[in-house]
Amino acid sequence: VRVYVPRDSAALAVGADDVAQALQSAAGDSIELVRNGSRGLFWLEPLVEVQTPQGRIAYGPVAPEDVPSLLAAGLLHGGDHPLRQGVTEQIPYLALQERLTFRRMGVTDPLSLADYEAHEGWAGLRRALTLDSAALIQEVTHSGLRGRGGAAFPAGIKWKTVAGAQAAQKYVVCNADEGDSGTYSDRMTMEGDPYMLIEGMTIAAVTVGATQGYVYVRSEYPHAIATLTEAIRRATEAGFLGDSVLGSGKRFQLEVRKAAGAYVCGEETAMLESLEGKRGIVRAKPPLPALQGLFGQPTVINNVITFASTPIILARGAQFYRDYGVGRSHGTLPFQLAGNIRHGGLVEKAFGLTLRELVYGFGGGTASGRPIKAIQVGGPLGAYVPEEKWDVPLDYEAYAAFGGVVGHGGIVVHDDSANLARLARYAMQFCALESCGKCTPCRIGSTRGVEVIDRLTAGGPDQPQQVKLLRDLCDTLLHGSLCAMGGMTPYPVLSALNHYPQDFGLAVPETQ
Ligand code: NAI
Ligand code: SF4
Repeated sequence: VRVYVPRDSAALAVGADDVAQALQSAAGDSIELVRNGSRGLFWLEPLVEVQTPQGRIAYGPVAPEDVPSLLAAGLLHGGDHPLRQGVTEQIPYLALQERLTFRRMGVTDPLSLADYEAHEGWAGLRRALTLDSAALIQEVTHSGLRGRGGAAFPAGIKWKTVAGAQAAQKYVVCNADEGDSGTYSDRMTMEGDPYMLIEGMTIAAVTVGATQGYVYVRSEYPHAIATLTEAIRRATEAGFLGDSVLGSGKRFQLEVRKAAGAYVCGEETAMLESLEGKRGIVRAKPPLPALQGLFGQPTVINNVITFASTPIILARGAQFYRDYGVGRSHGTLPFQLAGNIRHGGLVEKAFGLTLRELVYGFGGGTASGRPIKAIQVGGPLGAYVPEEKWDVPLDYEAYAAFGGVVGHGGIVVHDDSANLARLARYAMQFCALESCGKCTPCRIGSTRGVEVIDRLTAGGPDQPQQVKLLRDLCDTLLHGSLCAMGGMTPYPVLSALNHYPQDFGLAVPETQ
């Protein structure tokens, strides 16, 4: 009997290894233990699944102490037990999703090439190798895929810029320095379906004519680094990477680089500096990395999810992917529910659903049971979204229209015990701590910002002046910073001030 116990970090953190060990020692040879990725239903981790004629049956959250009673209840035949969640695919949280990129997540053994192949693996790359560069760019452009790291720049246009550049050496670099608070879709991909990322990067390399690739993974992700490194070794040995990708004569080598633990190194040019062995300081743009990137050569830089989205686009056609979503936001996004939420986890859906549907429909409200007060969307540099915006469709333009960002899809929920002035102060402090120091508004402005918020929240007759000072400072950060670190810190600060003035001790609601 095949039994699945995830090896994803989120499952390991709540004892998946102990559960696997308990199962193996109690059931012995009667089970074939598979260490899969996580399904992304984190409140049920460790989620144990058993293969039965009715499909995979899920049990969770399982503790090692539950193993004897589970086995006694007939776990190996999908028997009844208080922890039984039914057929995994029919759990509403999963059944209501549109899993395109994450369709294999938790289903397959992450490092099994045979499993990957049996689940549509390499189909995109195989098709890519039959097309020329122009046709590949046309496919990616027509799919509507935009950068999933946060900035949502059209992937096809970026690839076209690199493909059109003349150079002896080109690179493909994957930004896996996933630093946004409450986000983990990149990590889950590297741990749970690493060949998908390898396939996507290889498709990019074939498209632009790059022969060398790097995955820049944050050092806080040791399991992702280990899994990805082993996946690259196996894929190279099997001929999917290396001197002749699938016998095409096209060369592409891939290596993992461990990041240095700085948030700003997720900014693409600081990441290039770090990859070149230098201190992670932001470079001025232009020149764009697409034209002068790693070691001054044309470089495709995309986020993990952007690359990981391309195999299905190539395998099923651009139109298939384009038909998902709304407006100019095509396809799906793996939203990541975190913070004070009952059912935290990964929800891949087409653009266009609302925050309310996500946090109540999927998330089930707060973990504390208290009312939701604010939701930060798009990482630590994203705005706090107040209730009046929870029915706005999640698409890049609709969010930009009210000063929000969809970003990398991170959603952090706060209940009514949160103090938004303290969170605004935290945003400024975060900027002060993580600033690379290259430009003045960010390096000095963030420290002054903490002081202004302290004076403002202390109350007193000069509050109106402090509000004005804070707005002026945010304006300077917004328009005078070299990169998103300083440039976007005003998003959380101003959204907190505008929508939750009472938390700053302001009696009259502030309007812009
Ligand atoms: P950006 O708008 O400057 O650039 C977006 C991308 O498009 C870059 O790769 C840029 O080189 C490229 N590009 C722009 N014009 C181009 C052209 N004409 N041809 C080819 N390529 C072109 O945004 P940036 O600074 O790269 O990213 C900011 C975003 O990063 C924010 O929106 C934020 O949400 C996100 N972010 C994500 C984090 C994460 O953990 N995923 C962490 C921190 C920020
Ligand atoms: Fe560095 Fe901040 Fe300026 Fe970005 S905004 S270049 S992080 S000092």
